[in-house]
Amino acid sequence: MSIWTGKRIVLGVTGSIAAYKSVGLASGLTKSGALVDVILTEAAAKLVAPLSFSSVTGRRAYLDQDLWQVDDHVLHIELGEKNQALIIAPATANTIAKLAHGLADNLLTLTALASRSGYILAPAMDGGMYSNPATQRNLEILKDRGLEIWGPAEGHLASGLAGKGRMLETEQIMGHLRSWLGRAGGLSGKKVVITAGGTQEPIDPVRILSNRSSGKQGYALAQAALDQGAEVVLVSAPTSLTPPIGADLIVVQTADQMAQATIREIEKADLLIMAAAVADYRPAQIMDQKIKKDLGGMKSIELEETTDILQEIALLKKQRISRPMLTVGFAAETDNLVANARKKLQEKDLDLIIANDVSRPDSGIGVDQNQVTLIWKDGSTKDYPLQDKSILSENLIEECLKLM
Ligand code: CTP
Repeated sequence: MSIWTGKRIVLGVTGSIAAYKSVGLASGLTKSGALVDVILTEAAAKLVAPLSFSSVTGRRAYLDQDLWQVDDHVLHIELGEKNQALIIAPATANTIAKLAHGLADNLLTLTALASRSGYILAPAMDGGMYSNPATQRNLEILKDRGLEIWGPAEGHLASGLAGKGRMLETEQIMGHLRSWLGRAGGLSGKKVVITAGGTQEPIDPVRILSNRSSGKQGYALAQAALDQGAEVVLVSAPTSLTPPIGADLIVVQTADQMAQATIREIEKADLLIMAAAVADYRPAQIMDQKIKKDLGGMKSIELEETTDILQEIALLKKQRISRPMLTVGFAAETDNLVANARKKLQEKDLDLIIANDVSRPDSGIGVDQNQVTLIWKDGSTKDYPLQDKSILSENLIEECLKLM
């Protein structure tokens, strides 16, 4: 089940021009499965119609006048208490000032004051208003109270000037929000190291030996671990993907660089998931200059073995150099899936191996879906149907949680 499913989120919208972006935020949250109640201030409703919000959320969008309806006389208490997150995006300098001083003169500030679990602010305003000592002081007051403030970002402002004051984009707010929602999850306080992507072994300054791994499975696992509150280190070979917000990204190129970074990072880790497609061989010699065909080119490349990272880690654990942690590997196979994966599980001393049949064009390396068989140390197995890598990752993290 996705982190968003059934989550009640109150989205407060105040009178900054960035309010138009909040329609996208309300839509993104709703599409992901959240139940979004929007509260607009009077100024926000002048910029964006409440109907825009209710159209994308399928729920009512509240205005100040709703506070005075007979049926809803405790609307602010209801909205303030019955939510998993109250986020004010955009939050103007004026609303920030009111909140810093406990003023509650409209439905949104009343709801924020009534909220027992606090609220999150995504400020948006002109650069001068943001840097004004009054605004900065108000933000400090709110931070000291333990409230979350996300952004603003630097960039083009509505005034035509550039500076700090832009509201974060929908993807960034949703990224922060999902980590925040997962902060008390099963992996809270645990460090998880995940490797991703296909390593690249240079041949000369312009050529590499690599594989078709996209990194999608590893990145989706990193997101699923963040959703469970983990501290996530993502050791990634170069990919075209955006890392999940909250993950500590370490970009490496070669198998050896991945080995070094992973071995360093597992020192205090509780779980390692090796989702990367690591090169087994590299050119024995890397040419300093581009290989030229009119100078004879290169018709064959002599290769040498790279470090098997999981085998190296198994050795470190055996020698008690590395602390015990749960170690999960992947097995990419085109034939004898379970038998080959079982062999890898034993040789690499894993707790769990995720075997995927990479001969299927719709599953595994480079595509969005994966169909896997899980094999545990005790010999038991479990087949998963073909699934989107993000859904599969949630299931895999659940399986890891059961083992921890
Ligand atoms: N792996 C590793 N270091 C390597 C190669 C692989 O740590 N140099 C890890 C992978 O990240 C994966 C597991 O070992 O979790 C199995 O990788 P896979 O490519 O399926 O198998 P190999 O061990 O490389 O064996 P083969 O290529 O012969 O199937």
